[in-house]
Amino acid sequence: RGLDQEAPDVPRTKSPHIPPSPLSARPSFYQGSFPFYRLPSELGSFSLDEKRCYHNDARRLRYLSPPPGMDRGEASLGWDLMDGFEDRYVCRNEDDKEGLLHILTWVKENKGLLRGNGRSASDRPVDRDFVTWRGHLTKILCTPYETQEGWILAVTLFKGTLYISERETAVAYKKRKERTREQEKLMYSGYKFESYMCADSPDGSPCPSEVVNTNEGFCSVLLGRLASHSFLVSGEVDCKDSSSSNPSPPSCYVELKTSAQIRNSHQERSFHRYKLLKWWCQSFLLGIPLIVAGFRNPKGRIVSLEKFRTSEIPHLVRGDRQSWDPAVCMNFCNAFLDYIKKVAITDDPRVVFVFSWEPGQDITFTVEADSANLVVPDWYVQALSQ
Ligand code: A3P
Ligand code: MG
Ligand code: MG
Repeated sequence: RGLDQEAPDVPRTKSPHIPPSPLSARPSFYQGSFPFYRLPSELGSFSLDEKRCYHNDARRLRYLSPPPGMDRGEASLGWDLMDGFEDRYVCRNEDDKEGLLHILTWVKENKGLLRGNGRSASDRPVDRDFVTWRGHLTKILCTPYETQEGWILAVTLFKGTLYISERETAVAYKKRKERTREQEKLMYSGYKFESYMCADSPDGSPCPSEVVNTNEGFCSVLLGRLASHSFLVSGEVDCKDSSSSNPSPPSCYVELKTSAQIRNSHQERSFHRYKLLKWWCQSFLLGIPLIVAGFRNPKGRIVSLEKFRTSEIPHLVRGDRQSWDPAVCMNFCNAFLDYIKKVAITDDPRVVFVFSWEPGQDITFTVEADSANLVVPDWYVQALSQ
């Protein structure tokens, strides 16, 4: 007799839900062709002012205003990225954990744009599989190549849509609290670069004497698709290029970046392997086609500007076999979103599925049945239940 004939013949009414086993993040598992990814389309935007107050408009959108001669490499530079660090710097309170607050506020105020058609419209007020910040997706994309920092992502299924938020890990908390003055300066310098490169109006000029206030920001809200996963994603956009050949967002948006001046081939390799991975993931996700980078010398002065086309970045790293592959990033993200859909099947705003990952390990999860740390707050549940 065969093994299956020995199995007891018990009638089963309902098969129990078998939780999926942990998900690997090993790059070798995700090699292959690039999955379907649709260029996201902008559905709206919002702004956060100097007090971090939400506005349902684009008042904090800024405009790229590069120095004359940038395209010919002749720009007169030497900008001091430390200028104002002591006396003209207002830093956002990072203890204030906003979670998805501003995206949910936008959704609440723009509900009419998101409702699906047909009978199920009231069951699924947000006709998308996922809602999240671009920064969280960037972390997911970079995971197969990340060797330093783990992450915790908290997920809730509410009315047919999965909301992905982040929780700070204990290691990240400790690092943040123990940040040195040098690290604070480096953070400031990235924002200061923006104030040398951006103007408040399309024909205005940068105002480097302004206060750098990291509460302020402009966020685009976009709809996108990765394979079978539809999503609503929001991300902070540094500026718009009014002279862009394609004036519609996100194609007219530009990402600004700073990096240490590259002086030897070792530094160049590490710039390609680590920096360009993050830059590509961040900009590709929103469909931002251009990155303008400022390279700084050890004294914190900008010594050169360089443009990177997002679509060309993968070609720059292709020669290095130990480098990264954009298809691995995207296939892993696709697999992780599949995994979330398999795990997070209880549609309840009080239930939080907590996914954790540490470098070198698999992704695991726990379930908080009545969580003290909700992903979708009560005010949002009420607003979407009306
Ligand atoms: P750089 O990007 O030039 O490093 P973004 O580039 O995403 O628009 O962010 C603007 C700046 O915020 C960054 O400039 C950096 O200074 C700071 N910043 C963003 N994310 C950070 C992080 N995780 N840790 C430290 N600083 C960060
Ligand atoms: Mg930014
Ligand atoms: Mg930037």
